[in-house]
Amino acid sequence: MCGIVGYIGYREAYPIVIKGLKRLEYRGYDSAGIMLYDGNDVAISKTKGKVSDLEEKSKALSESKATIGMGHTRWATHGVPNDVNSHPHVSNSGNLVIIHNGIIENYEPLKKELIKRGYTFTSDTDTEVLVNLIEDVQKKDNLKIGKAVQVALNQVVGAYAICVFDKQKPDEIIVARLGSPLAIGLGENEFFIASDASPFIEYTSNAIYLEDEEMAIVRLHKPLKIRKIKDDSLVDPYVQELQMNLEQIEKGGYDHFMLKEIYEQPNVIKDTYRGRLLANQGIIQMAGVEDNIERFLNAQRILIIACGTSWHAGLVAEYVIEEFARIPVEVEYASEFRYRNPIINKEDVVIAISQSGETADTLAAIKLAKEKGAFVFGVCNVVGSSISRETHAGAYTHAGPEIGVASTKAFTTQITVLTMLALRLAKAKGTLSNSDFHRYLQELEVIPEKVAEALESNETAKEIAEKFKDASNCLYLGRGYNFPVALEGALKLKEISYIHAEGYPAAEMKHGPIALIDEQMPVVVIAPKQGHYDKVVSNIQEIKSRSGKIIAVVTKGDVQVKQLADHIIEIPETSDALSPLITTIPLQLLSYHIAVLRGCNVDQPRNLAKSVTVE
Ligand code: F6R
Repeated sequence: MCGIVGYIGYREAYPIVIKGLKRLEYRGYDSAGIMLYDGNDVAISKTKGKVSDLEEKSKALSESKATIGMGHTRWATHGVPNDVNSHPHVSNSGNLVIIHNGIIENYEPLKKELIKRGYTFTSDTDTEVLVNLIEDVQKKDNLKIGKAVQVALNQVVGAYAICVFDKQKPDEIIVARLGSPLAIGLGENEFFIASDASPFIEYTSNAIYLEDEEMAIVRLHKPLKIRKIKDDSLVDPYVQELQMNLEQIEKGGYDHFMLKEIYEQPNVIKDTYRGRLLANQGIIQMAGVEDNIERFLNAQRILIIACGTSWHAGLVAEYVIEEFARIPVEVEYASEFRYRNPIINKEDVVIAISQSGETADTLAAIKLAKEKGAFVFGVCNVVGSSISRETHAGAYTHAGPEIGVASTKAFTTQITVLTMLALRLAKAKGTLSNSDFHRYLQELEVIPEKVAEALESNETAKEIAEKFKDASNCLYLGRGYNFPVALEGALKLKEISYIHAEGYPAAEMKHGPIALIDEQMPVVVIAPKQGHYDKVVSNIQEIKSRSGKIIAVVTKGDVQVKQLADHIIEIPETSDALSPLITTIPLQLLSYHIAVLRGCNVDQPRNLAKSVTVE
């Protein structure tokens, strides 16, 4: 939540910061701001709205020759999105400028104290408190800015990734992190700072990711020094080579990132299993699993923790792991798990799933599980993310950058990794017959082709979207492996089109939701041939006899459901256990088209942010 960008070097900072903010806009987009320092003075422009609004407002700055700059794109936590609450914030003296991603939880007592000491505030933000706290510390003890930031941060409770600029020391930017990501790109005689590496990938492929409780003074012509905020000890920087390329973070001819990412699924699923699945040799291997296979095999149960779409992938994993490997699995929302004093044993294996690898609740749940002695395995997409570093071991999903706020390819690649894990454990435990094991491996290998085939339903999904774009409610039903897909389908629709949607296990209809069915109610039913087909057909009959409008996802060649449904979307046949990888595709397309037809901002839906770094 919130994206931050900084530049210090010899190039003009304005275009670098603005372009960087556009790439980070997925992190929050309710307001944006920029600061430039041109060797004489600081210029600031900020506004409610998107980075494009900031560009419009700061036209005068676009000519600036400033070679130092910082920018921010906001997802509001404290204070409504307006011009005043936008970042950067400036200290009372006008010397210090800050941008901040995170939350200062104890800002109220700090603010009261600062007010007593004569400070005044113009915004409602916790960030303005932080910048004045730094100034107060600096003045009281006559400290250099780096030291003042460190002392102030030691008084703060919460989460932050910050950049602080001091007009009196204009050859440096101070950065620090706790709980919110911060990467420093290393160029020749220049540094880039950002919430992730996307703003600077065309300039350098070397980056340092700060760890929690670390800070750095990013100073021109000086080697970067990283210190621990608590005890001032020096840290050996680890320079990481970036894997990302420019093409991956651009739309590549698609109207929206979401559509591009939906269409990337055949390739990224292949990337996910490349080198891990050797179907002809009957091998499935993942380094993080091989190194810890005993931990998995000794597990009395597996606990899966995640949020949102990743939680839905966890539910699919529950079905697959229990079916294949016969290990009991529990799936929990990370936010509930962390606050309910869960029973965790040393023999438990905890799997944390997160696309961004930065979700605050998932991160906190991991820390709790580790404290209680569990082995924690991460399934993350973003390489080097906080969760990937906090877990004992893990497997990356290799989906590439997911920029559309609504998760699509992250979901299917998470399911791919978790299915491979289930198969690997089944092999080790002997819980699947040899022939079934080999059959699943072969089938997994052709999933990308089937996903590509499922994408051919795009036109049909668009036609159906035309019919239902004005609906106010929608139900999604599925059974077994496809119950989590129903939840995911409903989430996709509500988050990007703002239509109220609910997912249910199809049989639960009778226990309440059936009361909602009338001729106005679209009901999306996932009814592939494999699985509980006959049961789902009965559920469809129940809807039909109450005049509900049925949109059914069926296997190619289906006859029975075709006769009952108002609309059908055909997908290729797969075994039940792998079907979520296919059935989810038309649901993504349906939501996408409905949202586009309703004129919604598909890639940046209202009130949302891609990476939820606040609890
Ligand atoms: C929905 C969506 C969210 C995320 C959730 C967890 O489309 O993207 O529900 O799945 O915020 O995020 P990660 O996976 O980054 O931990």
